[in-house]
Amino acid sequence: MPGDTTVTIYYGPLSWFKERLGKKKHSGLLDIVYERDEANRRHTHVVEGQESSTPNAPARRTKRVVAESSDYASLNEHVITNFAGLIRSINPNHLLLHNPPANMHAQLARALPTTVERYDYPAMTRDTLVQFRDGFSSHLVGQAAVKESLLAALYPLTTLKRTKPVVLMFYGPSGVGKTETAHFVNGLLGGTLLRKQFSMFHNDKFASYLFGGTHSESSFARDLLDRESGVILIDEFDKANSVFHSAFYQLFDGGVFEDKNYSVRIGPSLIICTSNYGTEDEIRKALGDALYSRFDSLVYFKPLTKPEIKQVIDRLVDDRYGQLSLDEQARLTPTELKSVLYPLADTSGNVRKLGKLVEEVISLVLVRAILSEVPATDTPNTKDRA
Ligand SMILES: Nc1ncnc2c1ncn2[C@@H]1O[C@H](COP(=O)(O)OP(=O)(O)OP(=O)(O)O)[C@@H](O)[C@H]1O
Ligand SMILES: [Mg+2]
Repeated sequence: MPGDTTVTIYYGPLSWFKERLGKKKHSGLLDIVYERDEANRRHTHVVEGQESSTPNAPARRTKRVVAESSDYASLNEHVITNFAGLIRSINPNHLLLHNPPANMHAQLARALPTTVERYDYPAMTRDTLVQFRDGFSSHLVGQAAVKESLLAALYPLTTLKRTKPVVLMFYGPSGVGKTETAHFVNGLLGGTLLRKQFSMFHNDKFASYLFGGTHSESSFARDLLDRESGVILIDEFDKANSVFHSAFYQLFDGGVFEDKNYSVRIGPSLIICTSNYGTEDEIRKALGDALYSRFDSLVYFKPLTKPEIKQVIDRLVDDRYGQLSLDEQARLTPTELKSVLYPLADTSGNVRKLGKLVEEVISLVLVRAILSEVPATDTPNTKDRA
């Protein structure tokens, strides 16, 4: 039929969609829907022989109508169920949709000429592997075995044949570099990392997050669609209740994730799950064979050795010292600080905790130095309280 609306559906991050839209004028789908609702509510009385004060706008065809990923949450479910009907009645020349629900896509594809564009996610190349190999030790102390096994695990993503994701499980004690390594790999590829911390969800919310709820609720599928990064980080995977494990089978197998509303194809991306399991056996028991066998590789992060912890302390002190102002630096000697902090290597291998302790010690030394320059004056109040 001449004058049919043509539809283009874009799957990818919002920034890319906006780029694709360009500067050409367009109207927001939500604005049009609100205006129509408003018009339906308004009653206009037209007296014969008198010009109407609000004449009906001449029906000029809207050229480009646009909806973004977050817009669908504001549409009523019944509008979504009959979305093709809505578009027919608006009848724009061109409809451009960003990450729409699967049902919307299917309706439009049946009713109107529809094309799909997908964002090319940053891909792992041989160059990335070289950067990974050469940059690893400036980001992380120790974990040499991690570097080797990750290089091997990432290699398949550099081949064109790969169409499904590589799924990794990072496991080991707390604060030894699991999340940091995921950030490092993502940094090499670019794009803000999609990081989901499973401990943040309570069971009831988690079910609708994973399996889909109403369009206005957040969902993993939509987060996957909206992501910018080639890396998907599922942090604290061990904190998810086992009833949710089956939700990941299809994603880990073939890179497809479907919930009640959305369908996502993630292709040859990198999925990193992290956990505090201690051994592969423990993982197998906790996750069950079905899920365990779907990981391409399990990467163990060791507790740091004492010399490694000392190296971390050196780095932490140097970093922190570099951020201080000149007058603060004049009150500290890094080598002295380090020797005060080295005994911590006997007590804690958790770098996150070490970082906090370094901060505390530096603040303490600084505050003491500053206070010692100002003689204490006893006020009557302090005496009263004492
Ligand atoms: N091996 C390491 N070398 C240098 N810095 C490290 C190392 N391990 C951890 N860190 C630093 O310690 C902090 C915590 O590390 P990270 O978040 O990677 O821990 P994690 O292994 O994911 O722990 P958790 O299991 O508790 O999530 C980060 O700031 C990170 O940069
Ligand atoms: Mg972590």
